[in-house]
Amino acid sequence: MIAPKQVQEILDAVRIEEVVGEFVALRRRGVNFIGHCPFHTEKTPSFNVNPTRNIFKCFGCGKGGSAVTFLMEHENFTYPESLRWLARKYNIEIEEVERTPEQLAEQQMADSLYIVNDFALEHFQGQLFDTDEGQSVALAYFRKRGLREDTIRKFGLGYTPDQRDLLLKTAMQKGYSVDLLKKNGLVSQDGTRDFFRARVMFAIHNLSGKVAAFAGRTMSTEKSVPKYVNSPETEIYVKNKTLYGLFQAKKAIRQFDECILVEGYMDVISLHQAGIENVVASSGTSLTEGQLQLIKRHTDNLKILYDGDAAGIKAALRGLDLALEQNMNVRIVLFPNGEDPDSYVQKVGSEAFQQYITQEAQDFIIFKTRLLLDETKSDPLKRSGLVKDILNSIAKIPDPIKRSIYLKESAALMGMSEEMLITETNKLIGSGMKKREEQAARSPQAASDSDPYMPAAEPDFHFSDEQPPMPSAPEDAAVLAPDFRPRRNLSRSAEFQERDVIRLLLMFGQQQLEQENTSLAAYVLTDIEDSLGDFDNPLYGKIAVEYRDLLQQGNPVDGQYFVHHTEKQISDLAVDLMTSPWQMSQNWIEMRNFPLQHQRDPELNFTEDMRQALDWFKLHKLDKMRRVVNPARLKAANEEGDMDAVIRYTRIQMKINEVYNTLAKRRNMVVPPR
Ligand code: GTP
Ligand code: MN
Repeated sequence: MIAPKQVQEILDAVRIEEVVGEFVALRRRGVNFIGHCPFHTEKTPSFNVNPTRNIFKCFGCGKGGSAVTFLMEHENFTYPESLRWLARKYNIEIEEVERTPEQLAEQQMADSLYIVNDFALEHFQGQLFDTDEGQSVALAYFRKRGLREDTIRKFGLGYTPDQRDLLLKTAMQKGYSVDLLKKNGLVSQDGTRDFFRARVMFAIHNLSGKVAAFAGRTMSTEKSVPKYVNSPETEIYVKNKTLYGLFQAKKAIRQFDECILVEGYMDVISLHQAGIENVVASSGTSLTEGQLQLIKRHTDNLKILYDGDAAGIKAALRGLDLALEQNMNVRIVLFPNGEDPDSYVQKVGSEAFQQYITQEAQDFIIFKTRLLLDETKSDPLKRSGLVKDILNSIAKIPDPIKRSIYLKESAALMGMSEEMLITETNKLIGSGMKKREEQAARSPQAASDSDPYMPAAEPDFHFSDEQPPMPSAPEDAAVLAPDFRPRRNLSRSAEFQERDVIRLLLMFGQQQLEQENTSLAAYVLTDIEDSLGDFDNPLYGKIAVEYRDLLQQGNPVDGQYFVHHTEKQISDLAVDLMTSPWQMSQNWIEMRNFPLQHQRDPELNFTEDMRQALDWFKLHKLDKMRRVVNPARLKAANEEGDMDAVIRYTRIQMKINEVYNTLAKRRNMVVPPR
């Protein structure tokens, strides 16, 4: 393990343009560098490297991040591998931190389990390639199934003949511990027999390519023999956190920004051999949460290839709501009867296969709707159950715009009114929120974090037409302000205001405000301290709270801290926020040789930017207070006949209005006429 102090030392030494420059030809453009994006094909360079902020960002495909992210994406490194690479480059000697005896023992155990598996892999491969029986039986079998030798080697395929204890004896001769063989499930628990016999073998790799387990397939067609047997779970093999083929697929998954999920080992290997490399298998079971998270680390787009029957598919669909909750895009492809991805690609070839899965891919929700509609065709009573089922899935989607599109499409498919579906979905969302709140109330720790002001199920979700896309360019920001029409405009730009506060924090948090004699971050966070738990977008709220906590603990914190954040959502957001559109326009100015006059340099204006952002942020929160929160309390007090409270809340309402009007006035006045 690398000590945190040293991680910081490495990150401090890194110069992004030097790191990226080792892989991409960069040209200077103003203060930045540009080049052709290594993550997607492009004719004109839109890949930006910003030495000031130590980040890269491609305005073509959207990829962006730190030098560490770059190495992870480009070189397929893990996080520690990237750090070690950087340490070597910058001549920083890494001292590994001391581990506790338990950690050491655990690591040693894992290491020895891997060593034993390496031996077993070599043994199975030797049996396949270097014995007469292996060649005539197993290698012939793989060839008959269409596998080339390079594929067989790449996936660590092997063979184990029908002998009682060949592996066990060989291992003992070579001095491997029988205990470890037992632990790995390679020999029986009484230590007398091999576990895998008379089978072709598949190595199951972990994420960094080490052999974590094996599966063995019988070559007999005898029904009483199980087709596949697998190693048991161990410290190094946790089934529901393993995806077969992910090690071989992860680079392609990132490259194509899509993961294809199949059921079987042979499907993965066949597709890979056919040049479709972004493929993993769940190995017969339906997708678990852990497996989904593994995929989510590389892409949001999941394409599932099913070869089963309707009942099997229905069971498999159940797990997929999990993917929706994570805001993933799920598409489904079905195969003609009797074909699985392996047989189909061998039959029609790679190109036709690609075409097939592109054409046949259906959106998950639409697919589910059609499937259930079909099923309830003859039974109108079952219809309402179906509608609930679909709406439950839709309610799980966090993105309101996506939700509204689905509601429109399913309404059309089911022949129902869209408004009604919207109302029902809102109820589901509301009860979901209520449930979460009740859960929070039950655990005292969480309860203190929840917002005591919010009524349980405030309909805080807007649909389709009411919610225009969030403004992202500075022009939009300028448009927002002079257009100020209190209520409507405020709710429209809520997202923008929160985003802007966080953007300022990350970009200029460490800047000193001369007048206030404090840093911008300290000023902002103190100023909106009361609202820190009240961000509409929880991700922004999380950043604000974490920033405040770090400041209070006296830890140095700035945008870079969040760019390197362990949570991908946060580091992605940080990069997005810090790659301001102004840097982009700098390029436009030079490339196209025309000045965009109304664009100011934000670095010079952060103080005024900050005052504006804070006013707008507070305006939004105050607006919510005066329209929703305080009226609800007032109403409750009225109903309970608590006159003291009624008076108190009425005063508060007046006070809120007063502050609100002052701020609104100020913002109207400073905005230059257009
Ligand atoms: P081939 O028949 O060799 O093409 O394999 P396949 O991958 O097409 O197998 P199938 O579609 O029958 O099963 C899909 C996956 O389910 C397999 O890859 C295995 O992971 C799993 N599976 C199938 N049969 C068994 C079994 O008998 N035991 C276990 N543990 N898993 C099985
Ligand atoms: Mn098959």
